[in-house]
Amino acid sequence: MRLSCTSEATALRVLHRSKTRSLECDIPRHGPRPAFLRAGVLFALLVLSACNPSNPVTDPADTSRPRTPQFEDVAFQAFPHDFMWGVGTSAHQFEGGDVDSDWWHWEHTGHTRTGETSDVATDFWNRYEEDLDRAAALGVNTFRFSVSWARLYPRPGMDAPDPAAAAHYDAMIAAMRQRGLRPMITLHHFVMPQWLTAEDRWASGAAIDDFVALARMAAARWGHAIDWWITVNEPYVFAFHGWGHGIFPPGKFGAWNTGIQVFVNVMKAHAAAYRAIKQLDATDADGDGYASQVGVAQLIVPVTPLDPFNPIDRAAVTFVDVLGNRLWFDLNRSGVPWFAIPFGGIIAADPSVRDTLDFIGVNYYSRQVIHFDLLRGLLLDPDSTGQRDMLNHEFYPEGLYDALDIVSGYGLPLIITEHGVPDATDTLRQESLVAHLAVLSQFIQDRPDTPVLGYVHWALTDNFEWENGYWPRFGLYAVDYMTLTRTPRPSADLYARLITAAQGR
Ligand code: FCB
Repeated sequence: MRLSCTSEATALRVLHRSKTRSLECDIPRHGPRPAFLRAGVLFALLVLSACNPSNPVTDPADTSRPRTPQFEDVAFQAFPHDFMWGVGTSAHQFEGGDVDSDWWHWEHTGHTRTGETSDVATDFWNRYEEDLDRAAALGVNTFRFSVSWARLYPRPGMDAPDPAAAAHYDAMIAAMRQRGLRPMITLHHFVMPQWLTAEDRWASGAAIDDFVALARMAAARWGHAIDWWITVNEPYVFAFHGWGHGIFPPGKFGAWNTGIQVFVNVMKAHAAAYRAIKQLDATDADGDGYASQVGVAQLIVPVTPLDPFNPIDRAAVTFVDVLGNRLWFDLNRSGVPWFAIPFGGIIAADPSVRDTLDFIGVNYYSRQVIHFDLLRGLLLDPDSTGQRDMLNHEFYPEGLYDALDIVSGYGLPLIITEHGVPDATDTLRQESLVAHLAVLSQFIQDRPDTPVLGYVHWALTDNFEWENGYWPRFGLYAVDYMTLTRTPRPSADLYARLITAAQGR
C-alpha cells in the first residue's frame, strides 16, 4: 500500500499515521509545495543526511531476515532481578464514565470511526480490584495507569481536586501496592478536562500552570506510594492528532503551526512538572533507592529507506527520524534545537526544558519504510509482504532494537512503557511477545551501558482504542463488552511463563 503526502507537515503526518487505521493521506489543503521550496527542503535533507550517519538502515526487501525467535531464543538471564515487568492501562480507555473530559464530548458528538463511545469502557473504575488481581496473577511487579485529570479537576479554577475522585485514586494506588504492583503513573495520557480544551489552553500556554497544579497535587498526595512518574504520554501524538490531523480533540484539522505551539507548551509543562515532582516526592516508596523517577513515554517509530542506496530516501529518513523521534530529547539535552528546519523559528526552545528527564519511556509498535519521490513528495511504502496486525502495523520485532538504539545516545535509562498487538485471534500476539522479548534480551546483552529497566505490555485487557473504538483488541485478557467479563487469552499464560523464566523461578 502506498501513501503520498505533499502538504506542509508531511514528515510529522507520516510518523503519526502509524497510529491510525487507514493509510490514505489527508488531502493537502494548499496543494504541493512550489518547486523552489521542495528543492530547498531536499537540499536540507541531503545536508542532514550527511550529518546524521546513525539512521537505522534495513533493506526492506531483505529476505534473509532471521526466523521469528522462539521461547528458547529469549536470553532470560539478560533480565536483571529487579527488572520491571508490567502491564499498561490508561484512565479514559478503561475506567468508563469520564464524563467531564474532552474525549467524552468528542465521542458523543460523533467523532469516532465506529460511532462508539467510551461510556462504560471496561468499567475499570468499579472493577479495578479484580483487574489488579488479574495483573498480579501474571507475575508482573509493575502496573502502568493514568489518572483522569477531568475527574480530578472537572471545573475551572478548582484549588483542590474533587475529593471523591482523589480518594478513589488513593484506594486504587493502595490496592496496587497491596498486590505487590509498583504503581507507574501517567499524568497526561491524551485526555483533558473539557473546560480546558474548550478554552484552548494548550494553544495559549495557560495549560502549563494547570498541568503543574495537577502534578503538584499528585506528587504531594501520592509521592509516598509512587516512585515512577510519566508526565506525558506521546506528546507528538497528542499535539498533532489534535492540531493538524484533527482526529483527536479539539479536532483542529490543518492547524499544524498551532500543533507545534502545543508541542512546545507541553514540553514546558513537562519540565515544570518534572521540577515539582522532584521537589515534592522525596519518599522512596519501594525501597529501590529512587524516591522519584520522572520521564515521558514517547512513541518511537524507527524509519528506514525504501532504497538504502538512494541518498534522497536516506535523507527523508533522517528528516522524519530527527523531527519525530529525536527532537524532544535533543531539546531536552541541549535546551536549544540543533536542528532548525522547517519550523526552527517557532521551536525556539526554552532553556528551562534542559535536563528534565530521569528516564526515557519507549512506546514501540512498528517501523515505517519511507521513500521520497521528487514529484509526489514523501511516500510511505510499507513492506507489503510482512505480516500485519488489526491496525495494519507491520510485524517487525527487530524494530524494537532500532527504537532503543535511537534513544540510547541520550545517556538515560530506558523503559519500554508500551508494546503490544491488536489481535483478536491472539496468534500474532503470542509470536510477538516472544519475538520482542528475544530482541530486548539481545539489546540488554549488547548494550550494558544503556540500562533498560522494564517492559510494560499494552494492555492488561481489551479497551477503548480512541478514534477506532473497541474493535482493536490489545488485551492479554479479552473483554466481552456485553457482560464485561474478562477471559484470559493464551498470551496471558505465555507472558506469565516468560516472566517466570526471566526471574529464574
Ligand atoms: C498508544 C497509546 C495507548 C494505546 C496504544 C495502542 O500510542 O499511548 O493509549 O492507544 O497506543
